Amino acid sequence: MSGRIPQYFIDDLLDRLDIVEVIDRRVPLKKSGRNYTACCPFHDEKTPSFSVNQEKQFYHCFGCGAAGNAIGFLMDYERQDFPRAIESLADSAGLEVPREASVFHEDTQNKKNIYTILEKAADYYRDQLKKHPNKQIAIGYLKNRGLSGEITRDFDIGYAPPGWDNLLKALGNSQEDRQLLIDGGMLIEKEGENKLYDRFRDRIIFPIRDNRGRVIAFGGRVLGDDKPKYLNSPETPIFHKSKELYGLYQSRKSNRQLLRLLIVEGYMDVVALAQHGITWSAATLGTATSTEHLVRVFRQCPEVVFCFDGDEAGRKAAVRALESALPAMEDGRLARFLFLPQGEDPDSMVRRIGATDFTRLVNKAVPLEDYLFDSQSANLNLETLDGRARLSTLAAPLINKLPDGVFKKLMMKSLAERSGLTVDDLSDILASHQAKPSEDKKPATNNAHDNQPVAQPRKRQAQQNEAESTRNPVLYAIALLLHEPKAASHIETRYDLSTHKDPRAPLLSAMLDLLHKRPDSTPAMLIGHWYGEPWGEVLQQLLQFDQIIPGDDINQELTDTLELLERQKINEQLDGELSSFIEKGLNQLNDTEKLRFNELFQEKQRINNKQSQN
Ligand code: UTP
Ligand code: MN
Repeated sequence: MSGRIPQYFIDDLLDRLDIVEVIDRRVPLKKSGRNYTACCPFHDEKTPSFSVNQEKQFYHCFGCGAAGNAIGFLMDYERQDFPRAIESLADSAGLEVPREASVFHEDTQNKKNIYTILEKAADYYRDQLKKHPNKQIAIGYLKNRGLSGEITRDFDIGYAPPGWDNLLKALGNSQEDRQLLIDGGMLIEKEGENKLYDRFRDRIIFPIRDNRGRVIAFGGRVLGDDKPKYLNSPETPIFHKSKELYGLYQSRKSNRQLLRLLIVEGYMDVVALAQHGITWSAATLGTATSTEHLVRVFRQCPEVVFCFDGDEAGRKAAVRALESALPAMEDGRLARFLFLPQGEDPDSMVRRIGATDFTRLVNKAVPLEDYLFDSQSANLNLETLDGRARLSTLAAPLINKLPDGVFKKLMMKSLAERSGLTVDDLSDILASHQAKPSEDKKPATNNAHDNQPVAQPRKRQAQQNEAESTRNPVLYAIALLLHEPKAASHIETRYDLSTHKDPRAPLLSAMLDLLHKRPDSTPAMLIGHWYGEPWGEVLQQLLQFDQIIPGDDINQELTDTLELLERQKINEQLDGELSSFIEKGLNQLNDTEKLRFNELFQEKQRINNKQSQN
C-alpha cells in the first residue's frame, strides 16, 4: 500500500546510525585494532573472522564472504526484507520512514488528516473530564479504581459525555471533517438515513497510540454495568486491531531501555500496573496475541512475559500465545508465561499484593521452553512409551515453528531427551507432518533461508570481481570511487559513459552523478543507495578489496582511469563508423565518404598515440 522509501531518507538513516551499535546489540563485538570482531553469525566458526569497520560503516566476514552495511546486516540477521529493515532501524533511531509520493499520495494525505482529527478527539475527551457538568461522575469512577490524576494524564484518559452528538458538534464542522471522523471510526452513519451519531457515549476513554505516539483509535469503558463493557474503534485505514498493543508507547516512553514487556489483557490492567510503578506492560485489544504483535515487540525489547488468568480460558489463551510466539523467537529473545490465581487479573492482583510481590511473580514466570513441554504433556503419562511418543508428535511441530538457530537445536535436543527418541526420529516425525501442507505453514515473517548456500556463490563471484577489478577500468574506477567518494569532486569533465559496452558502466555513471550531487557521501551511503539491487552486490564485493586501492593519489588514478574509459569509448565509436566504410569496400566510397574516412582514421591515430604516451 505504501510508496517507495525515498533515497535521501535511507542515506540520512545510514548516516545517523553506527553499524557497530546496530550489530553489537545483536552480536556482541570486541574491539580489535581499528575494527570490531566477532564469530560470524552467518556461518559456524570457532575463531572470529567477522569484522566490522566503523569508519566505512561496513561489515565483512573473511570466512564466508558475507558483507554489507547496517541495512544488509539486519536483512540477513533478522531475515527481514528491505523496507522492514529500514523500518526497524528507523524505529530504533526514533525516525519516521517517509514514503515517496505516488499514486497513493491521496491515501497518505487522508491518513494524515485522520491522525490529526483523532488527536483533536483525544483532546476533546480529555477536556470533558475537566469541564463537563458530569465530570465528577467520571473522575469518581477513576478514583474509585485507584487511579491518580497523574496516571490519568500520562495515559490521556478522557471522558465521552452522555449524548448522541457531542463529538459531532465539537469537531464535525465541515463535510470534510465529518468524513474524516467517519473514516477514523468516531462517527456512525445511521443505516438508511443520512444521520450521524457519536460512537463513544457516556464512557471513560482510553486513547490508543501507535509506536510513534500518534492517536490511532480509542477504547471506551462504561461507567456502570451496561453492556458491552468495552467498546473499541473499528478497523480503519490507520488502525489494525491485531497489530497494536495498548500502552506499548507509554511503556517505551517511561523506560530508557525497555528490558521486558508484560503482555496483559485489559486497558485497566496496563493503567493500574503503571499506577503501581510497573511501567512496562501493554494490552492486546480484545484479540489473541499475534505473531505480528510479537515481531513488533521484540524489535523494541528482548523479553516478553505473557500474563493470563489461571482459569481454563487463560490456559487456552496461553497455548495460542505460545503458538504465535514461536516464529518470533529468534536466538537471544525470551518469552515467559505467568498464570495468575483464578479470579484475578493484573489490576486486582497488583492492588492486592503490591508492585514488589507482583514483580516477584513476574520474575518466577515459566520460561517458554518449559511451558511448551508442560502444556503439551498435560494429560500424558510420560512414564509410558506411548506417552513419550505422543509428546514428540505434539511438541516437534511446535518446535519446528522456531526460526533456525541455537535455541531451536536445543529445544529439539531437549525433546529427544524427554521422549527417549533420537533427533533423527524426530526429524522423521516432522517430515510426516510437513507432508500435510496445512499443518505447518511458515509465517510470512519467517522466510528462513540457510545462509551457507547464499554465502558460497557470493564468495566465488567476489573472487572473480577482485581479479577483474585490477584489469577492468570500469570496475577499477568504481572501486576507487567507493573507497574514496570524495575523489569524484576532483573530476572536472562530465564523462558520458552511457554507451560504454561494459555492463557496469551505467553504475559508474550513476555513481559519478550521485557524488556530483552529494559530494559528502560515505562508502556506506553508496552501498545503501544500491542495496538489494545487483549493483549493490558488486559494490559490496569491491569494498572488500582494499589491496587494489593505491595508498595515495587516488584522485590522479581516478582521472587517468576515466580518461582511459573516454578514449576507449571514442575508439569504439570510430571503429564502428570505420568498419562500416570498410565493409562497403574502400574503392566504392564517394568523395564525401572518403573525406570522412580520412578524418576518422587520423582521429583514431591521434587518440591512440595519446594513449600510448600515458
Ligand atoms: P476484561 O473484561 O477482562 O476487562 O476484558 P478488564 O480490563 O478486566 O476490565 P475492567 O477491569 O472490568 O475494567 C479485557 C479486555 O477485553 C476487551 C478489552 O480490550 C478489555 O480491556 N473487551 C472486553 C472488549 O473489547 N469488549 C468487552 O465488552 C469486554
Ligand atoms: Mn479488570
